[in-house]
Amino acid sequence: MVNMDTIKSEYQAELALVTDAKQLGEFWTKYLSKSGQIQKLMGGIKSVPKEEKKAYGQAVNDVKNWAQARYEEKKAEMDRQAMMARYEQETIDVTLPASSVAAGNLHPLTSMKYEMINVFAGMGFEIFEGPEIEDDDHNFTRLNVLKDHPSRDMQDTFWLTEDLLLRTHTSPGQIRVMDAKKPPIKVLVPGKVFRSDSDATHSPMFTQMEGLVVDDHITLGDLQGMLDQFVKAIFSDEAKTRLRPSYFPFTEPSVEVDVSCFKCGGKGCSLCKGTGWIEVLGGGIVNNKVLENCGIDSFRYSGLAFGIGIERIAMLKYGINHMGKLFENDIEFLKQFKA
Ligand code: PHE
Repeated sequence: MVNMDTIKSEYQAELALVTDAKQLGEFWTKYLSKSGQIQKLMGGIKSVPKEEKKAYGQAVNDVKNWAQARYEEKKAEMDRQAMMARYEQETIDVTLPASSVAAGNLHPLTSMKYEMINVFAGMGFEIFEGPEIEDDDHNFTRLNVLKDHPSRDMQDTFWLTEDLLLRTHTSPGQIRVMDAKKPPIKVLVPGKVFRSDSDATHSPMFTQMEGLVVDDHITLGDLQGMLDQFVKAIFSDEAKTRLRPSYFPFTEPSVEVDVSCFKCGGKGCSLCKGTGWIEVLGGGIVNNKVLENCGIDSFRYSGLAFGIGIERIAMLKYGINHMGKLFENDIEFLKQFKA
């Protein structure tokens, strides 16, 4: 008669040697399939004496259940190990430094423009953008820069036709705004402007930001107050402004605005050429003629206007010595402005 214990220990020894899914499959075929060894034990009942058949059948059944249970255990253990191995492999070390993603950054002029817009938006300015191709009327005549007047020479103009030109400043934006809207007006006009001029601090194309405020009782004090806030926000809390008399046909009185040197604090250095002050922009009280040219009653209303060169502010703020650098798009230069 077959010794059940021998079969069990053989079964167990062989199962212990199984290490992968393929071997487990083969093991199952050998022992547990229809033609497997455990099944065959059942066939052995034929040669067992009648009175022992019951006990034999019982014993084979026990072995069968026992074998099936061991098999399930083994399979569960192997599945668990496979899963652990996969977990091990898929482990992510969250403390590893991430590989860097090369991201671009805003061009310094763009971020400078946004920074300036932010400051003025905080004072309630709206944004208006006019066309880069203008006519004589908006760029000059209605701004009180009359034909044949010497003040036209202040801006070397790229003429496209007798009447059309590339705007030499953002001031025509003033006319367009006052044509479209009546006081109270508080707008900012950023944009490209063009002049036939090129050296270390001039470029044939550059960007300006025009400011225009028209309302009751607007004075030079309002202009200085706003610009004071502006230079403090852009350069330093200690920065102060100073107005110097100047001339623009579209403002009366006109001023040049200086900022106290933010490098030496006003003592005098190479940046401010020893004066303690740096010229940053032009402005003034809107000439009554300009208001009237736009149908605004100059007895009732007054206005202030200013024009800021964005490149100039960026060059001063970042210590850039040649305006061309802002247009060459040298990647190494631009990378330095990564926030
Ligand atoms: N448009 C002038 C320029 O480009 C600047 C300016 C604007 C002056 C507004 C006064 C008022 O030089």
